[in-house]
Amino acid sequence: MYQKKFEDMESLTEELIEKLIARGFTSVESLCWLNEEELAEKIDIDQDLAKKIISEAISFVDQKPLSAVDLLAKEEKRQKISTGSELLDELLGGGIYTGEITEISGEFAAGKTQICFHMSINVQLNQEKGGLNGGVYYIDTEGTFSSTRIAQIAQSNGLNPDDFLKNIAVTRTYNSDHLIFLVMNVEKLIKERNIKLFIIDSIASHFRAEYTGNEKLVSRQQAVMKLAETLKQLVGRLDIAIVVTNQVIATIDENIFDKSPHPALGFAWAHRPHQRILLRKGRGQARIARLYDSSRLPDRECIFFITEKGISDKEK
Ligand SMILES: Nc1ncnc2c1ncn2[C@@H]1O[C@H](COP(=O)(O)OP(=O)(O)O)[C@@H](O)[C@H]1O
Ligand SMILES: [Mg+2]
Repeated sequence: MYQKKFEDMESLTEELIEKLIARGFTSVESLCWLNEEELAEKIDIDQDLAKKIISEAISFVDQKPLSAVDLLAKEEKRQKISTGSELLDELLGGGIYTGEITEISGEFAAGKTQICFHMSINVQLNQEKGGLNGGVYYIDTEGTFSSTRIAQIAQSNGLNPDDFLKNIAVTRTYNSDHLIFLVMNVEKLIKERNIKLFIIDSIASHFRAEYTGNEKLVSRQQAVMKLAETLKQLVGRLDIAIVVTNQVIATIDENIFDKSPHPALGFAWAHRPHQRILLRKGRGQARIARLYDSSRLPDRECIFFITEKGISDKEK
């Protein structure tokens, strides 16, 4: 199929095309997801022109509905990345899927970051070994990223750490604006580095630290929604898996019967992930994962262990 290019668009001059490319836009379709304020700001034009560009981009993109059969074929093409534990993979229907946002939530030391570390190695393996021969982009909002620990997991699984560390790109974020900025401009990096796994560990920390008090709740929810919407568009458009960790909060409302901890960020975020797992601690290094609210799998639980070798079905 002939792909429309920036050059085909009447509303774009050569100068604007250069600016778009410099800002990481790689396709006409990538313009459709913006609103006029965002585009105006990004390439320094007035909003009327931005509106014209976005409408033209939308008119270019194929709007024909897909049949359910085509969609099935598309869904069957989705690929999976192993978590390191067979039971946890099974819980998730075979692993973490591309084309989906998977949320891993849980209390402190529940194993959220350890799963991200192990998957950062696994995604680089070939398909037979549970990977996709792909790279990783890791956004670390809590300052807990550890190359040493990833190297340990690689080494103890008989892999050469350097071969794996070099394919993991990491950014430590300062605040929620920084996080949103990175996510909105991530497409170029994903394509350049053949990234198949995009991790945000964690999505909650900046928002919870910056937006304190009830009066800031509305603006917090707006910021969270913007981030969630951008993630959803990325995962729908690019052939990647997005894994997001989330903190949990205790229920303090005494009218709510279920007092168990639940993921942070409220309704603005809750319906965005395709898969949600909640971790809790068991005895020693045992952890229990519960899958819930999935659109394609039943609610269920499994046990895994955090070991020197990473995420495992065996305690030792
Ligand atoms: N090298 C290691 N060997 C075995 N277990 C480890 C190792 N490093 C961390 N852990 C375990 O991982 C747990 C912390 O998990 P982590 O993923 O960091 O939690 P969080 O859910 O807060 O991100 C701790 O219980 C710790 O014992
Ligand atoms: Mg962590």
